[in-house]
Amino acid sequence: MSVAHNIENPPAGSTKIILANRELERIAKIMDTDAGIFLSDEKSTLVHSRLVKRLRVLQLNSFVDYCNLVESEAGKEERKELLLALTTNLTRFFREPHHFEHLIKTALPPLIAKAKRGEKIRIWSAGCSNGQEAYSIAAVILSLLPNAENFDIKILASDIDRKMVMEGRKGFYSEALMQKMPTKLREKHFESFDDQSGKKTYCVSPQMKSLVAFRVLNLNAASWPMKGKFHIIFCRNTVIYFNEETQEKIWTRYRDILEKPGYLYIGHSERLSGSAINNFIKDGVTTYKLKD
Ligand SMILES: C[S@@+](CC[C@H](N)C(=O)[O-])C[C@H]1O[C@@H](n2cnc3c(N)ncnc32)[C@H](O)[C@@H]1O
Repeated sequence: MSVAHNIENPPAGSTKIILANRELERIAKIMDTDAGIFLSDEKSTLVHSRLVKRLRVLQLNSFVDYCNLVESEAGKEERKELLLALTTNLTRFFREPHHFEHLIKTALPPLIAKAKRGEKIRIWSAGCSNGQEAYSIAAVILSLLPNAENFDIKILASDIDRKMVMEGRKGFYSEALMQKMPTKLREKHFESFDDQSGKKTYCVSPQMKSLVAFRVLNLNAASWPMKGKFHIIFCRNTVIYFNEETQEKIWTRYRDILEKPGYLYIGHSERLSGSAINNFIKDGVTTYKLKD
């Protein structure tokens, strides 16, 4: 990685903390090793602004000290914080609505018929952030099968960021986030209450929660803990942060863990790559069906 500039961005009234090229490279190496995330040169300002906060929390005066810590055994926990500080959790309910239209019209009806015959249905929201994607899928399932919780239907919602996983499990969303949830679905599947500061907050209904299981999972881990296969995988706006080699590996792993005819939904600026391309056919915008 070649980095053009050293970054300095001191908070008012404090000593400058410089992120030198050498330390940026050390941080990039950790991101690559731990999460398969590629940190480009242009991310140096972002790296500085996000990690300088960690330095303050830890009362460290230099990125050299910070890198020494995260590279050591004693810094194992901080290494996780580093990863979380540098990933982005941006998400929203019903993001990329065409995927949910495809779910309603094409992917879900045969699966619901299967569920009614007593078969299990498994869906995975991989890189789920705070759960808005998984709950959007759950809302769509409930619109097609109003008592879905009585069937063997489960959505696994996983993310590397344990804070996001905890938020998803809790299922509290601000009024601003709820703007993307259609009114009818909001009224049906959410309860509103005022939080401690008097702000209107919405909580996911127990029925919808019962369809979703949240887990911490690193997509780049050597193995995944799930035993069975999935009928549908949503992995959107997540793989884009990985290097090319990791992306190809992930697509292959999705191919192998999908049950035919499985569907894979990816983000608007992502593309399938590597040998898995041959196993999928396009079935809509950034929507792929596993070949028979
Ligand atoms: C931009 S959000 C996308 C959320 C949602 N899929 C969507 O499209 O709205 C990307 C998520 O991927 C997660 N992520 C990044 N690297 C990961 C990894 N190696 N394993 C699992 N999740 C990861 C981040 O924590 C973040 O929550």
